Amino acid sequence: MVSKLPLEWLPVAGPSVTDREVAYATDAARNAWYSGAGDYPRRFEEAYARWVGAAHAISLPSCTSGIHLALAAAGVGPGDEVIVPEITWIASAAPVHYVGATTVFADIDRETWCLDPASFERAITPRTRAVIPVDLYGNMADMPAIRAIADAAGITVIEDAAQAHGAMLGDGRAGSFGDVGVFSFHGSKILTTGEGGMLVTDSDRLADRCRVLRDHGRAPGDHRFINGEVAFKYKMSAMQAAFGLGQLERVDELLARKVEIFGWYRDRLGETDALALNTPLPGSSSVFWMVTAVVDPALGLPKETLRRLLADERIDSRPFFSPLSSQPAYKETPGARGAAERNPVAWALAPFGVNLPSGYNMDEGRVDRVCTTLLRILQEAS
Ligand SMILES: Cc1ncc(COP(=O)(O)O)c(C=O)c1O
Repeated sequence: MVSKLPLEWLPVAGPSVTDREVAYATDAARNAWYSGAGDYPRRFEEAYARWVGAAHAISLPSCTSGIHLALAAAGVGPGDEVIVPEITWIASAAPVHYVGATTVFADIDRETWCLDPASFERAITPRTRAVIPVDLYGNMADMPAIRAIADAAGITVIEDAAQAHGAMLGDGRAGSFGDVGVFSFHGSKILTTGEGGMLVTDSDRLADRCRVLRDHGRAPGDHRFINGEVAFKYKMSAMQAAFGLGQLERVDELLARKVEIFGWYRDRLGETDALALNTPLPGSSSVFWMVTAVVDPALGLPKETLRRLLADERIDSRPFFSPLSSQPAYKETPGARGAAERNPVAWALAPFGVNLPSGYNMDEGRVDRVCTTLLRILQEAS
């Protein structure tokens, strides 16, 4: 009897790692000590700032710490409000709580799934101090519109580009449109250092403030160990920075691969009315961090049912983020009050979206397997 091979499990995300990153990280492990300890972080920061087109880049242990630093550097604190889109990972919002401010949730755009500028504008009050637009799943938010509204109201813009390294809007790269931009290098992201983050800004004042706040209130270059204030410890190790430098040197190849993977999905799913795929903002290019399908609500196929049916075929997926105001962590907070009525698009789409396998290990055959399975499931549901 011939036994059937088990189907390969297709994970939803994963990196591309070559000998280059391994060699750099190995070199750092051997040599980045004593007077050379800061070399790789400095090289990674300089190369990253050049690539994004920002005056300053500060390497960090995570993107979450970058948002925390940006809020603290902007002086956001108790009594202030910060506007965050409903649909994002909680890391975009949690640092608002760390600084003692209140998170107010705004709606997303129906096409791009990023912060809706009109909803952002409606959510502004005299207490609003900052907004954190998110470049969701690799799509650019409408940063010029958001920026114009924020500037008119005197609000700090922190662009959360954790999922969108390399996305472009006009001539500008994701992360370069706010007062501060932040990126994640978690293992699932476009570029990775295992865990890690980067904060970029053109503002000398904000960069100086972040550099002090991220080192326990100590000025850069201080050898007397003077702590001017109680602050944080947010630094990336030399081994992570070395790995990240190797990833950054491969960024064009990595971005091309993401676009290619999305193209295979679009060729197979783009024609069906039963779902909508990632739709970039006009004038922008998405990096399609996660290929995402929002199924037509009329089919009555909730995301958790769809995910179970995909998992039965050994296909991993993630749920489209649920509105943050619906999460146990937030639903009783003042900023979540009335959010379901105020943010109807987020609440309508979220139950029906899934992220499909989008890791760098995907090839056309694997994408074909996901699409054939998904189309069959949709056919059976209709
Ligand atoms: C939109 C968004 N913001 C922030 C973060 C936080 O990144 P990190 O895990 O590096 O802190 C993530 C991570 O998944 C994210 O997706």
